[in-house]
Amino acid sequence: MVPQHLVIIMDGNGRWAEHAGLPRSAGHRAGVDALQRIVTASMDQGIAALTVFAFSSENWYRPPEEVSGLLELFGSLRSELVELAGASVCLRFIGARTAFPRMLQRLMHEMESRTSNNRGLQLTIAVGYGGRWDIARAAQVLARQVQEGTLQASDIDEAHLQEQLSLGELPEPDLLIRSGGEYRISNYLLWHLAYTELYFTDVLWPDYSPANLHAALQWYAVRKRRFGGIPAPS
Ligand code: IPE
Ligand code: IPE
Ligand code: MG
Repeated sequence: MVPQHLVIIMDGNGRWAEHAGLPRSAGHRAGVDALQRIVTASMDQGIAALTVFAFSSENWYRPPEEVSGLLELFGSLRSELVELAGASVCLRFIGARTAFPRMLQRLMHEMESRTSNNRGLQLTIAVGYGGRWDIARAAQVLARQVQEGTLQASDIDEAHLQEQLSLGELPEPDLLIRSGGEYRISNYLLWHLAYTELYFTDVLWPDYSPANLHAALQWYAVRKRRFGGIPAPS
């Protein structure tokens, strides 16, 4: 079985560059190329939704020159984003976007409206995103509804909260891949990962290839997912 919804933490770009004797920014640029390859490979594999972690809420606290390099890189990706639109990808950004320069907010908005009718891969890019931010924001929306009298506090359940989270209507992630050798979630989709299969690899993101994706999908295909139940009788 191919995962319907694949989520990826694209880590290891800076280290890849350092190993090659290059500035960290070269690793981030190479990471974009890797993402392009994996988007194509995901479509070839029949994956319906791909959600990638590009920049976390905590990444804002990196040295200013690295943050500005990342913002500059983001701003230079118009043609790559337009290419996705042509490939029938439906693009969406999640995260606290008001923290980004106006030009980037406009670019995100433009790409979302341009691709909103595309029926190919649903590609979500998490920028300025944090799982805790997402949950706190959803709580705020529900609190407002209670204040306005359209929702009873005692009616709030998991479905209400889930509905207000950034990934809203997408199916729960089936498989998480983290490249770069760390075994942690780093404040990614905290709510959504409850029953996601977790796959960690030492491969640094710029080196991540369709063959690596294939290996992860093969690993996923033999997982026995129980969701707290017991295995179905065979
Ligand atoms: C992940 O790569 C992408 C971003 C956080 C922007 P890193 O920049 O964290 O690369 P490493 O982990 O330092 O190698
Ligand atoms: C996670 O990587 C965030 C992204 C890949 C965008 P980090 O490099 O920020 O995570 P830590 O610091 O290793 O936990
Ligand atoms: Mg990192």
